[in-house]
Amino acid sequence: MGKYNYPHKISFFSFLLNSSAITKNPIPFHKRFFEESKDDSFSVTPFFSKPVLLTRDAEIAKYILQKKHKNFEKSKLQTHHLSKYVGYGLLTSTGAKWLRQRRLVQPAFHKEKINSLITIINDTIKDQVEKIEIDKMQELYPMLNVLAFEVIAKSLFDFSADKKTLNRLQFIIEQLQQFIVKEIRQPHKRIWYKLNGEIKRHLDLVREIRGIINSIIETRKSSKEDHDDLLDMLLQAEYEDGTSMANEQLIDEIIILFVAGHETTANALTFTFFLLANNEGVLKKAQEESVELQDDPVTIDSFANLKYIKGCIEESMRLYPPAWITDRVALEDETIGDYHIKKGTLIGVSIYEIHRNKAYWAEPETFRPERFLEDNKKEITSHYMPFGRGPRLCIGNNFAMYEMILVVNEILNKFNVETNKDTVEIKPLITLKPANVELKFVRR
Ligand code: HEM
Repeated sequence: MGKYNYPHKISFFSFLLNSSAITKNPIPFHKRFFEESKDDSFSVTPFFSKPVLLTRDAEIAKYILQKKHKNFEKSKLQTHHLSKYVGYGLLTSTGAKWLRQRRLVQPAFHKEKINSLITIINDTIKDQVEKIEIDKMQELYPMLNVLAFEVIAKSLFDFSADKKTLNRLQFIIEQLQQFIVKEIRQPHKRIWYKLNGEIKRHLDLVREIRGIINSIIETRKSSKEDHDDLLDMLLQAEYEDGTSMANEQLIDEIIILFVAGHETTANALTFTFFLLANNEGVLKKAQEESVELQDDPVTIDSFANLKYIKGCIEESMRLYPPAWITDRVALEDETIGDYHIKKGTLIGVSIYEIHRNKAYWAEPETFRPERFLEDNKKEITSHYMPFGRGPRLCIGNNFAMYEMILVVNEILNKFNVETNKDTVEIKPLITLKPANVELKFVRR
């Protein structure tokens, strides 16, 4: 590569040899390659393609996501491939279009705005927790997934969409997400999916979901009622020139909020309950802190002192960050620390590995929420990034934290939680998903 200088190079052959195991679960391979490289980065150059660099160095993450973010852009995988089914919303767009949308949508996620959504979020959580089946070992993820979907759906549409419509929306979004994963993991099968009609079936679902959302928007536009939900806020939002979003763009943003906002939250909650059920001392402390929220209406202040519960969630996302990896492509040749990389290099940032890097964390494999309560919080934030970093930081980070604190508080206040497993299986697809976590809820 001449003038370029890349970190420890892994042969592309060793990648090919292990390719099916790597696509199934890349995490053990990443770990092995990091260990071989003795550095916090390694690289590989696929045939006929630009080099790929993978890092667990928090400084490099900060450099590309924050400090020099203008010199890097999300890869096609995160933009072009995703957008085919879920449109060009905040998560999937880049450059000037992304910036314009971010400026428009950001105010809807300011703390004061979310404060006005807390009643909807809290009522939805309470409704769902009421439905929990007690005294029975059950798969946890499906239940938390429905809960997280309902929370984002009701925050978007208040109670304007009926149960049947919401179920259909959830079904379609999940079908699309699963198919995107299938296409990305097995791109060589794309021709087969075209021939067997799978692509067409999913594009029909896209058309259907866009139609459903469009009719919710149209009904809302002609209604005189105030709902104070995300849809009202997005409808009122104005660009700098005083215009507002066209329906098509609004539909893109709404689909993206569903996609970005429900699976990630359900993953984090599942891992959190799994860890709590396996750590008696921590569970007891969190339970002692949990309270029946009395305020009417409940606001952000009502649960601001649930610090230990918040620490449990933060620590769970350290060990199991739902968005476990992200990427950027270098727009020009770049010097990053000791490395000099070529324009077009794909850089993967393993948030999972940064969060378990021995250089940053004492006993990284141990679940210890106290880390987030101690005075070294500032030091932690330099290598803790479950919501990303820089200008593309998760727009729903506060929303997600409030939601998760309310869920954990509500459940722990009512139930003891027990599990029959002490290890959790993980499925690192686009997000890091837990598999087969079972939990029993017993009334306190
Ligand atoms: C535990 C829950 C969540 C986690 C761990 C999470 C994580 C992330 C991360 C890491 C990114 C940045 C990706 C990158 O820079 O490449 C991101 C972006 C984003 N998230 Fe979240 N997220 C969560 C919940 C939510 C929720 C609840 C919403 C919406 C209500 C949401 C909406 C978004 C959007 C729209 C973006 C794109 C922002 C942009 O590029 O401007 N997320 N999220």
